[in-house]
Amino acid sequence: MGIRLGIVGLGAFAQHFIPLFKAHPGVDQVILCDLNAEKRRMSSEKHGIAQTSPSLDDLCGTDIDAIALFTQNWLHGPQATRALRANKHVYSAVPPGISLGELRAIAAAVCETGKIYMLGETSYYSPAVIYCRRRFRERAFGEVVYAEAEYYHDWDHGLYEVAKWRGGEKWRETAGMPPMFYPTHSTSQILSVTGARMTRVSCCGVADHHADKIYASNQWRNPFSNESALFKLSDGSIARINEFRRIGHPGAVRMTMFGTQGSFEHNAAGAVWLTKDRAERESLDAQFTCRQPATRVEGDMDKVSADDGTHHSVAPVHPVHRLPDAFKGLPNGHSGSHQFLVDDFVRACVLGKTPPNNIYEAARYIIPGIIAHQSALKGGELLEIPDLGDPPTDNRLEID
Ligand SMILES: NC(=O)c1ccc[n+]([C@@H]2O[C@H](COP(=O)([O-])OP(=O)(O)OC[C@H]3O[C@@H](n4cnc5c(N)ncnc54)[C@H](O)[C@@H]3O)[C@@H](O)[C@H]2O)c1
Repeated sequence: MGIRLGIVGLGAFAQHFIPLFKAHPGVDQVILCDLNAEKRRMSSEKHGIAQTSPSLDDLCGTDIDAIALFTQNWLHGPQATRALRANKHVYSAVPPGISLGELRAIAAAVCETGKIYMLGETSYYSPAVIYCRRRFRERAFGEVVYAEAEYYHDWDHGLYEVAKWRGGEKWRETAGMPPMFYPTHSTSQILSVTGARMTRVSCCGVADHHADKIYASNQWRNPFSNESALFKLSDGSIARINEFRRIGHPGAVRMTMFGTQGSFEHNAAGAVWLTKDRAERESLDAQFTCRQPATRVEGDMDKVSADDGTHHSVAPVHPVHRLPDAFKGLPNGHSGSHQFLVDDFVRACVLGKTPPNNIYEAARYIIPGIIAHQSALKGGELLEIPDLGDPPTDNRLEID
């Protein structure tokens, strides 16, 4: 028997996921939920889903099995805990929360209710990360000694629009969030390969001088548009994370990882695998290129208007054989990750298994960023990073 799932937050991002949850063979029913009646009406019509709910609170009072959160990025922590405590499995868009207290509350709720929690971390299924996980399992890196990951996204590349639709009339109050409060696209790339955790951090911030004054006055009291952090990890390696929101760059989410035997290097020129003995120097660009759908609708990323019978927007490294046939021809996005994330969550709920990007792993992606920002506010002071413990290993969902 499948699950009944409510999708909360019918804004821009959820539109890419509604057709996937609706089509998954493990889902019996989808209910659409938003505070905004017009968004409920439009999404209901667009996706052919009749049942709607006016709020997360209302949805928590029903007997559905699961809730997927696509609400504003600073709301997820308390909303996830609310849904778990109402006995629902929870899928959450990133970030999982923005304070240690929020993360601890989610973990406690997962522990006490036994419900599934999964973070929809898109970097987890980016082609480079899938490739590096395989190389790591083969021990091709030797010992990992250093990694770096970055998320570069300048305000001029759509962030004003995003801040306005998420924040509404008072968007300036919620804009200007510390860049290290949104680090999971970067940190997860390294941590999901090695399984190590970040133990200590020193972070520096670049105080912003832009005329828009977004970082001059905001509810976060954050002056930094760019933050760069150096971490010590539990496996003995070090890692550098850059979260930049003012940068003369087209934008990137990527990582590089050096081992004692082999290395994966990725920059604007492309991605390569290299070995110390100089026997291997393999360009990976072809393996990482996501095949575009046959028919695209202008202006709507990854929207597919015709089913050509294939899994769309995936790269040769993606294990599409594990996806349901029902996903063929449906939207995908963020380097082919959306379909895998939905499939992980639904199967985890149906099978009662621990998914990747569970709360323990999600906490390891976000807490280092929260502490890094504290370090930046203290001029780069070296700080210890708390940990919420290990995910259960005996009941893991198969994902390859
Ligand atoms: N690569 C990625 O992982 C990625 C990319 C884009 C967006 N996101 C995440 O997706 C989330 C959504 O982004 P968006 O741009 O679609 O936001 P949005 O502002 O367009 O949509 C959020 C919606 O949530 C609704 N909402 C908030 N609280 C609610 C409640 N209690 N009950 C019912 N509805 C409620 C709002 O009314 C709004 O319509 C963000 O958290 C963002 O971080 C992740």
